[in-house]
Amino acid sequence: MRTILVTGGAGFIGSNFIRQFREKHPTYRILNVDSLTYAGNLENLELMQTDALYHFHKVDIRDREAVRQLFDMYEVDEIVHFAAESHVDRSITEPEVFLTTNVLGTQVLLDTAMRQWKLEPNDKHSRRYREGVCFVHVSTDEVYGSLGSDGYFTEESPLAPNSPYAASKASADLLVRAYHETFGLPVKTTRCSNNYGPYQFPEKLIPLMIYNCLAEKKLPIYGDGQQVRDWLHVSDHCEAIDLVRSSGTFGGVYNIGGHNEKTNLELVKLILHKLGRPEALIQLVQDRPGHDRRYAIDASKIERELGWTPRYRFEFGIEETIDWYLAHSDWVEHIVTGAYQTYYHDMYSSVE
Ligand code: NAD
Ligand code: DAU
Repeated sequence: MRTILVTGGAGFIGSNFIRQFREKHPTYRILNVDSLTYAGNLENLELMQTDALYHFHKVDIRDREAVRQLFDMYEVDEIVHFAAESHVDRSITEPEVFLTTNVLGTQVLLDTAMRQWKLEPNDKHSRRYREGVCFVHVSTDEVYGSLGSDGYFTEESPLAPNSPYAASKASADLLVRAYHETFGLPVKTTRCSNNYGPYQFPEKLIPLMIYNCLAEKKLPIYGDGQQVRDWLHVSDHCEAIDLVRSSGTFGGVYNIGGHNEKTNLELVKLILHKLGRPEALIQLVQDRPGHDRRYAIDASKIERELGWTPRYRFEFGIEETIDWYLAHSDWVEHIVTGAYQTYYHDMYSSVE
């Protein structure tokens, strides 16, 4: 039996990945390793609770000893590494935890995997690993910085991160690269554009706007709302990661994106119309410091080499996502607790 260790599996993308992975790979043992920060929610995985080959471990990836113990407990064959602090706005107010989790936490995982998987762990020159092992690092298009009104990020675009979040992810990417170059660790990196879909925490644009619409609250749009993001359904992202895991090249980087660019204002108006709410709910607020103007991914490498293409048409995916939030108001209500209210109040104090 093969064992896959998924870090950050209680978050938005990680939980979607685990459910989707299970459907496709019924015989794998799945270990979900998550410290359950504000963004981690085991309710996202209720369907997995009866699965005898699924195990959850509340472990912080920065805790080297706890991570090592997991490798002692199970013979881990593969790692898909999602765990991270993921929200740009939080990285502007509290950058430190982004460095400890996203950079040092990644290094702990790389180092532990290397020691456990290497056939001659005490030989620094050895590049021989146990057959079939693989470390997939889930990164982001934000490491490339910001685009002007045309052009796309390719895997060769220079890294030019602008927010502390993006800088922490770029640092992790470079560590992953270094562990491959120096130690021969079998790694693969993915860099995806903005995801949307079920179970996304309502601090991110789409679920925040849906939630505020339903609560008849103002919709805070940063700056002029003309920033562009390239939206991809989470299920398409998860499928791409699984393909990279099974068929990608070691040491390779794969961009993933939807060819689906929208300005923030365009997107928010679309949500308003679908929910039958007035545009007067929109409130332009002070811009995010260092706000990246445009992201757009050239995904031709993964399309060409691995045959991946997104299945979701955005117009359908966004409608399905809105319907999901309407049908899961209790999931949202459990999340928007005291801690969320404090965050919202601090973040959006200027919003009426
Ligand atoms: P998320 O914030 O919803 O989930 C992150 C998960 O990691 C949570 O369950 C949290 O509890 C866990 N976690 C955080 N710190 C931890 C630690 N120290 N130890 C163990 N677990 C910890 O994030 P997401 O949106 O699901 O993103 C997942 C990954 O995908 C991140 O690495 C992110 O950079 C990347 N990514 C996200 C997007 C997007 O649009 N959301 C796009 C591209 C890439
Ligand atoms: O591109 C991939 C990245 O996408 C991931 O790496 C990040 O983890 C993920 O959070 C996301 O980052 P963004 O900063 O693009 O996503 P966010 O949902 O925070 O914002 C999307 C756009 O909407 C951005 O231009 C900022 C704007 N925005 C966001 C919020 C929360 C607003 O105008 N108002 C808001 O209240």
